[in-house]
Amino acid sequence: HTHYDAFPKDFLWGSASAAYQVEGAMEEDGKKKSVWDKFVQIPGKTFKGSTGEVAVDHYHRYKEDVKLMAEQGLRAYRFSIAWSRIIPDGDGEVNEKGLQFYDNLIDELLKYDIEPIVTLYHWDIPQALQDKYMGWESRQVIEDFTRYAEILFKRYNNKVNYWVSLNEQNIFITLGYRMAAHPPNVKDEKRMYAANHIAHLANASVIKRFRELDMQGKIGPSFAYGPTYALNSQPLNQLAAENNEAFNAHLWMDIYVRGEYPSVVWKYLKTQGLAPEFEPGDSELLKAGKPDFMGLNYYQTITVEANHLDGVGAGKMNTSGKKGTSEANGVPGLYKSVENEFVEKTDWDWNIDSTGLRIAMRRIASRYQLPILITENGLGAYDDLEEDGSIHDLYRIDYLKNHIKAIQETITDGVNVIGYCTWSYTDLLSWLNGYQKRYGFVYVDRDELDKKELKRYKKDSYFWYKKVIETNGEVL
Ligand code: BG6
Repeated sequence: HTHYDAFPKDFLWGSASAAYQVEGAMEEDGKKKSVWDKFVQIPGKTFKGSTGEVAVDHYHRYKEDVKLMAEQGLRAYRFSIAWSRIIPDGDGEVNEKGLQFYDNLIDELLKYDIEPIVTLYHWDIPQALQDKYMGWESRQVIEDFTRYAEILFKRYNNKVNYWVSLNEQNIFITLGYRMAAHPPNVKDEKRMYAANHIAHLANASVIKRFRELDMQGKIGPSFAYGPTYALNSQPLNQLAAENNEAFNAHLWMDIYVRGEYPSVVWKYLKTQGLAPEFEPGDSELLKAGKPDFMGLNYYQTITVEANHLDGVGAGKMNTSGKKGTSEANGVPGLYKSVENEFVEKTDWDWNIDSTGLRIAMRRIASRYQLPILITENGLGAYDDLEEDGSIHDLYRIDYLKNHIKAIQETITDGVNVIGYCTWSYTDLLSWLNGYQKRYGFVYVDRDELDKKELKRYKKDSYFWYKKVIETNGEVL
């Protein structure tokens, strides 16, 4: 390894999850429903109608799960807090029992020196706020989300050093309001850009409050970034790649970091009659929300070509190269996504491209000059539980190994990377794909229809990652 820089001594070797995907206990101890609890009831939306009602029962088994992390030597665990546990109606009474669950989880992690990385919002806005004022479409959410965040900031200031504000705003907004694949199940571009603008204001508002409270830790959003490649060096295809970066990456990250819409996107939205409304104070608020780091969720790259104005049938914009790439996605005049013949694919047709992670980080570092915390990266695959309780997920080891190599190369390039959270720690509910699409180091024995005993088993990747952590990335 002589030609590579070593990983920093305090590198956060971590793993991640999200409340809805692991906790279960849907209406226990005062929790009320989130938009996901309702959305999954719509027939045909999720694989075999799977829900997070029980999920992998982390709510009751967090001690067992944290013990597995400790045995593995995990340094950081990223999880999200369910807003509807803390404030079941979104804007009403605070639910002490909900807070206690996270007190316990955080204390359990700290007991084993595992750094908690807390996500404030991983897509599960309380259903009560959706009913009351349409959730992210009302400016009232800015105040309510900030109040919720402030409760957590004050409670955990001396325990939590890393905070993630919004998880993948680009995904929950585009899948929620353009593709009707997430709640609130809408296809409306105008409403999408309006809700997106409000989500940006809410994100900036919690970061601003974080500064006002003089918090000891660091905060940033997690962005689902799928860097764009042009199909080839045909200049118009290169231009299409620029368009895709502007519309599917800069639109979010520029606003996080600079508080301004990229001019190319703003002009287009104005011309199309899709621009969100700016109220007095919006610009100032957006500029007050600069993060300490960029949280990066990386799964794959996306390849595009020019999409001529007469391209009939196109019209759906792609979202970060992460979801829906199998559809003929594109925007006439801007870009159209195409296959990349140089990369392999996962069981769910996502490109496997570890160099793309290096490219993603290089682009973020040059454009924004921020440290990067990789908050998600991993392989969704079918796993086989053997009779002796082992799971030989060599394909997952291979995937993670190549991505960790890419991180080391990027550090060697001169980029400041502070940590790596794999997705996911235990197996969990994949929002739309049920329980068969597995990401974890720890196998959880259940399927869509039968939750069985939810027993945990260590996969081969569990032992492999233990070694990676022990040697600080020297043995891969
Ligand atoms: C990210 C999310 O979009 O990707 C996770 O933050 C999600 O919550 C992960 O599970 C993998 O996506 P999927 O669709 O395979 O579950």
